[in-house]
Amino acid sequence: MNQQKATNITWHDGAVDPQERHKNLGQKGVTVWMTGLSASGKSTVAVALEQVLLKQGKHAYRLDGDNIRHGLNNNLGFSADDRAENIRRIGEVAKLFADAGIITIASFISPYTADRDKVRKLHDDAKLPFIEVFVDCPLEEAEKRDPKGLYKKARAGEIKGFTGIDDPYEAPTNPELHLPTHEYSIAQSVQAVLDVLEKKNLLKA
Ligand code: ADX
Repeated sequence: MNQQKATNITWHDGAVDPQERHKNLGQKGVTVWMTGLSASGKSTVAVALEQVLLKQGKHAYRLDGDNIRHGLNNNLGFSADDRAENIRRIGEVAKLFADAGIITIASFISPYTADRDKVRKLHDDAKLPFIEVFVDCPLEEAEKRDPKGLYKKARAGEIKGFTGIDDPYEAPTNPELHLPTHEYSIAQSVQAVLDVLEKKNLLKA
């Protein structure tokens, strides 16, 4: 699906370096990538994290799977190819936001390791920090929560290819952070992310 079609294009560098942006903003750009099953708590933790960071005077912005699929990615479904393209586009957007100096919180199921690893490489190549957060909750618990009633529909055969039911979720093997959301409160999860950002010295210019 993703093929370079444009020809005769040339990269044009700017005249400012990232440090200048960091200095103005008083922070560094980073992508916090939340991956996990539907209803694992990705969006809930992302919303709370964004709020805490803004209260601390930081510039943070959420990119949320369901929301992005209303706009930028509204032409994509849930086949493996479409999910790959969904994650590729958002990886590129997150990279731009991080480059702009924003604490970018991306919450997408992003079920395939290969797609997540490509986003990590994109950031590594650009020397931008990438923090993979495994928002982990057992399938039984996610199904119990089922806030949108989608697991019920998937079990009834009304949704095909639903992650965790009849489509795979490949859990990260080496994430920067593991959040067992069935054991942590929302506040504990938020604090755990903040601790990683702090430890990596990303909350200061
Ligand atoms: S991803 O797999 O491509 O990363 P994304 O995070 O953007 O998925 O979107 C997931 C959301 O789409 C779910 O939270 C749910 O609300 C909805 N959804 C609809 N159909 C499916 C499906 N077949 N599998 C998973 N999520 C689905």
